[in-house]
Amino acid sequence: MTVIDRPQSFALTEPVRGFLKKQHQLLIGGKWVPALSGKTFDVIDPSTGEVITKVAAADAADIDLAVAAARRAFDHGPWGKSKGLERAKLLWKLADKIDEHAEEMATLETLDNGKPIKMSRIADIPGSAENLRYNAGWAGKITGDTIPASLPGNFHSYTVREPVGVVGAIIPWNFPLAMAIAKIGPALAAGCTIVLKPAEQTPLTAIRLGEFIQEVGFPEGVINIVTGFGETAGVALVDHPGVDKVAFTGSTATGKAIVRACAATLKRVSLELGGKSPTVILPDADLAKAIPGASRSIFFNSGQVCAAGSRLFAHKKIFDEVVGGIAEEAKRLKVGPGLSPETEIGPLVSEEQFQRVTGYLAAGAKEGARVMVGGQSVGNRGYFVEPTILADTVRDMSVRQEEIFGPVLCAMSFDDEDLEKIAAEANDTTYGLAATIWTRDISAGHKLAKLLKAGSIRINGGGLDHAVPFGGYKQSGWGRENGKDGVELFTEVKAVSVNLS
Ligand code: NAI
Ligand code: MG
Repeated sequence: MTVIDRPQSFALTEPVRGFLKKQHQLLIGGKWVPALSGKTFDVIDPSTGEVITKVAAADAADIDLAVAAARRAFDHGPWGKSKGLERAKLLWKLADKIDEHAEEMATLETLDNGKPIKMSRIADIPGSAENLRYNAGWAGKITGDTIPASLPGNFHSYTVREPVGVVGAIIPWNFPLAMAIAKIGPALAAGCTIVLKPAEQTPLTAIRLGEFIQEVGFPEGVINIVTGFGETAGVALVDHPGVDKVAFTGSTATGKAIVRACAATLKRVSLELGGKSPTVILPDADLAKAIPGASRSIFFNSGQVCAAGSRLFAHKKIFDEVVGGIAEEAKRLKVGPGLSPETEIGPLVSEEQFQRVTGYLAAGAKEGARVMVGGQSVGNRGYFVEPTILADTVRDMSVRQEEIFGPVLCAMSFDDEDLEKIAAEANDTTYGLAATIWTRDISAGHKLAKLLKAGSIRINGGGLDHAVPFGGYKQSGWGRENGKDGVELFTEVKAVSVNLS
């Protein structure tokens, strides 16, 4: 690990400085308004721990207004009657706005979340614009079926997929803009209206997005953006009877709380939750690709990725070479503030997350895990943690079972050719979000893919694709985002039968 010297401050461009100086409000019913309580909260730069700006703190009263605006827009506004093509055009315009302001958005994302500016530039910001365009393509192409009736008589039966209605979207802080778009894109393509609550740690790019939403001319109330905390704004949104569906990405614990809260109204719920995803490297794998792949899978975004490959299973024959290779990568990676152009590992998002990850490192050491590389925090300012590999972990250690959500890999070897045994170990968590397999044996790859209990299986690498369904088995979630499944997640099926006789 190389630590980059950290200058006290970075020169910010005029648009970024201008944006940070603003009074950040809530976008409700097409207008920017302060929280009714007048409250605000601080936005922190995780590379320094310093306050960069303040934003409005919504609570239940503001959520009431936002849901009412989304309800009006859905039930009575032009949106409810809009054609897919009109919605698609607006989504494309919004994507173009993001691209036009890409550098400003990348800087805001990095300031707010801490991630390397390189990543904001090549992944978060352009990926968000592309996701909007991908989902724009679905608007007007969401269809039902015609169904050969089985009753005696002469029936014509068909289904239509209608928008589910008002969506309450609650998102996390690891990919702030991308997560906002991951809800807005498919929900709007399907014809829904939305109240979006960004994570309290990272509200900035969602607010800037709200300004773009105003500029491109979405009808009022179609997209409402309310910044606030989970316990106040989040809970109120989940509980609100005017919300038809909650779309959530975040921790499994909060996902369960949302399910309990939604039992009262049985509103629709989709959940994209945590993971403890395995990377399985078979002895015949192309290690020149598998080693950097496994390294990226755990260290990208400082490990703050729901699908992070946080448990490595490598065959005994290649274990030393694989772990040695990942350790070399870990040592080579440049840790520093996100705005530094060379930075490859930024800080964790918050003091809370820093405490959580360093807490796991301490627990791992106490329980007997061996630190092969890393294992420490970095510097005395900001929330930096070294890329870390732990060996000698056993089944019931917290570092082996729980989602750490930091740059911490548990490395295990297996001495077996039996794919069922390998899969049983890889499946041995309460999660089931993703798994990566490295092999040159096409048959073994597919067999293992079949045995692994996870929503996304990647063979020999690859990343998130807006066209490919993504979501969890077991306690990693409910439903699939992305692709056709992703837009259908924002619809209800209506069956119509006509008695023709
Ligand atoms: P969280 O799940 O508590 O927060 C995610 C979002 O839910 C935020 O917008 C938050 O304000 C909101 N929220 C929190 N409690 C709520 C409630 N009772 N009702 C409605 N909304 C609520 O996650 P947190 O505390 O930020 O991170 C804790 C752990 O969660 C991480 O260490 C990581 O393991 C996991 N996580 C997983 C993510 C994923 O992508 N699957 C993303 C973020 C965190
Ligand atoms: Mg929380």
